[in-house]
Amino acid sequence: MKLEYEPFSERVRTDPYPYYRELREHAPVYWAPEAGTWVVSRYEDVRFVLKHHELFSSDAMGGMLAGQPVVEPRPASLDRILILMDPPDHVGVRNLVSRGFTPNRIAAVEARLREIVAETMTPLRDAESFDLVSALAVPVPVTIIAELLGVEIERSEDFKQWSDDIVAGVTGSRRSVGVPDQDFGGAMGQFEAYFGKLMEKRRSDPREDLISALTQAQDGEVGLNQSEMLVFLLTLLIAGNETTTNLIGSMVEALYEHPEQLERVVRDRSLIPSLIEETLRYAPPVQFLCRRTRCELELAGTKLPENSAVLPLLASANRDDRQFERGDEFDLTRDASGHLSFGFGTHICMGAALARLEASVITEALIEELPRFRPSSEPLEYVDSFMMRGPRKLVLERCSASSARATRRPLAEAR
Ligand code: HEM
Repeated sequence: MKLEYEPFSERVRTDPYPYYRELREHAPVYWAPEAGTWVVSRYEDVRFVLKHHELFSSDAMGGMLAGQPVVEPRPASLDRILILMDPPDHVGVRNLVSRGFTPNRIAAVEARLREIVAETMTPLRDAESFDLVSALAVPVPVTIIAELLGVEIERSEDFKQWSDDIVAGVTGSRRSVGVPDQDFGGAMGQFEAYFGKLMEKRRSDPREDLISALTQAQDGEVGLNQSEMLVFLLTLLIAGNETTTNLIGSMVEALYEHPEQLERVVRDRSLIPSLIEETLRYAPPVQFLCRRTRCELELAGTKLPENSAVLPLLASANRDDRQFERGDEFDLTRDASGHLSFGFGTHICMGAALARLEASVITEALIEELPRFRPSSEPLEYVDSFMMRGPRKLVLERCSASSARATRRPLAEAR
């Protein structure tokens, strides 16, 4: 294959993994001319980029969320957005918002999570067919974020709708839902109005929720003002929903493509945590991040000028044979720890424990059902995003007794 990797091209998006392999072998630090960015593909180098924030700034992430790496200085209004900040400023804001993600808070969500998953699974157990993504992988994470934030129960359906419309508007990744622009604007307005009021309420009458934790800290040294808090809440919607949804979808897809692994985990549930880590390694929900060089520097023998955009390819690093033997194989008996799917270093995902918990509770409820279903013959489509990857829709159909063995066919053949 001639090396023609472009991170924002449809051609690559269909199946980026063969490109990643070529990059690792032949051009570990590669200039992608159309996107105007350096692309880093080997494990050690990706980790180096994420570790050295003094060399690689996160301020380029904002432009990338909008679809392209942008390395111009960002406007002052974007100064205190967690994911775009660098140390030392990043540390204070991260400490503040991490009060909402303590192990105690995550543990407190677990009981509700089990209830929500049980409720969501009940109708699916008797269904002849269902779309795993819209029936399970989308609603569970969004309901959990609502709980974590402390959204009042009577507004939780509204919250789900705003979240869907906002995520679709920002990332373009649910374009299939057909969200028109006015829905995005309307959702943002209602979101802001609702959370503005909720913050006022929680400031005077705090509860055990994330909004209360954030408003309590507001009077402290590094408190966030109201609009900064709203931006953080939006970050959570985007960082915490779509990613977890993609993880669940990709896990089920990988299991049907590897029926022997499905059988193994159905027989032995203690493999569920390994299944989740191996899915994260093999099919990362976030394929790459973006950084900007703060000075001229050399990476793996290539000279990068100051102010260049750099894409550390998490999804390629995770399959690097130098780090994970037979990196392109899905094998839930391997030790997948050390994968970079939650990032690495100062910005490492704050929701990782929550995402793992959600994935394991969902998998425990779902796993015994999977052999009774098989993926429909509809062609599989992925979410409409370059940075995020996961099935947009994954319809499962009940196997009739005579065709039950068809689940043994890989998904690709069944399609
Ligand atoms: C499988 C699910 C998830 C994946 C793959 C994922 C992935 C990531 C990655 C790669 C980063 C690093 C960004 C960077 O270095 O620039 C990150 C950061 C972050 N994630 Fe996650 N995430 C997931 C779930 C969640 C959830 C459930 C939440 C919260 C409810 C969350 C909240 C955050 C936040 C707030 C940050 C920013 C941290 C910072 O900038 O210091 N994530 N995530």
